Amino acid sequence: MNKKRVLITGGAGFLGSHLCDRFLKEGYYVIAMDNLITGNIKNIEHLMHRDDFEYFHGDVSNYVHVPGKLDYILHFASPASPIDYLKMPIQTLKVGSLGTHNCLGLARAKGARILVASTSEVYGDPTVHPQDESYWGNVNPIGPRGVYDEAKRFQEAITMAYHTYHKLETRIVRIFNTYGPRMRLNDGRALPAFLGQALRGEDLTVFGDGSQTRSFCFMDDLIEGIYRLLLSDYPYPVNIGNPDEISIKEFAEEIIKLTNSNQKIIYKPLPQDDPMQRQPNITKAKEILGWEPKISREEGLKITYEYFKSQL
Ligand SMILES: NC(=O)c1ccc[n+]([C@@H]2O[C@H](COP(=O)([O-])OP(=O)(O)OC[C@H]3O[C@@H](n4cnc5c(N)ncnc54)[C@H](O)[C@@H]3O)[C@@H](O)[C@H]2O)c1
Repeated sequence: MNKKRVLITGGAGFLGSHLCDRFLKEGYYVIAMDNLITGNIKNIEHLMHRDDFEYFHGDVSNYVHVPGKLDYILHFASPASPIDYLKMPIQTLKVGSLGTHNCLGLARAKGARILVASTSEVYGDPTVHPQDESYWGNVNPIGPRGVYDEAKRFQEAITMAYHTYHKLETRIVRIFNTYGPRMRLNDGRALPAFLGQALRGEDLTVFGDGSQTRSFCFMDDLIEGIYRLLLSDYPYPVNIGNPDEISIKEFAEEIIKLTNSNQKIIYKPLPQDDPMQRQPNITKAKEILGWEPKISREEGLKITYEYFKSQL
């Protein structure tokens, strides 16, 4: 009864389900909420029997009510991969705006601290490299990716407004590309796409000439950073990601080597507004949270590859 209680929206998703695991391990009472539009109940099936865990189905953009006390809210509900938010543009805008508003209202009513999941996409196609938190970004609001990027930018703005106007305890994490077990093979992001193609014996599809860069963070590192940020007293955005940057072409070659496959790389046109480079500046996370990633891409990829193999 004395356990701290935490609500995790998007709790049946890739990151949300790992957060459920982590907070249970730390001794919290965890309440997960999800409408399963991109999540999967299998991600939290192993927790359903526990008496310190509960799950309820609901759309956070409509309404969110949790009886009893709440100490923390982690708002992670949102389509997160381009194919998902391009398919569900209105839901994406709603969950970043109305969903965040509902969570902030609940946090205020309960006197809870809230952490919202923002993204490196707030930097858009960045003109500053690497990206630090003071950079305002380069986003096309009416382009296809704008539904996600602007939803997250609004999310940050309303969260800061609740902090300054209502003195709510808020935290904002800007998450850079994260990967690991429980990602969906078909979610369209480069890493599961490449691993899926290699596992099925298909050629790997690179969009553009492959010179665009990304920086991939293993989920255990990210979860540690989020945990530390929640418990810190820092209300402004903090980048959490792995600065180890690689071009998409080199990354495809790395996957071919890792999976010991003979596949070729084939090239297709670059989607509109695809960012050309991505690398977090993590000075703030190091200084404020004492955090930096520990798991190399080689190690993280092996774990993820084994997971995907077991899924096929
Ligand atoms: N994975 C990454 O690399 C990454 C990078 C930046 C930001 N993020 C953010 O982290 C969060 C989680 O991303 P993920 O990769 O785990 O994606 P995911 O799709 O696996 O998880 C999102 C979860 O939210 C749920 N959801 C969506 N809309 C909802 C709604 N209206 N009400 C209730 N539940 C809803 C989905 O069903 C799903 O379970 C998202 O907010 C995303 O924007 C992720």
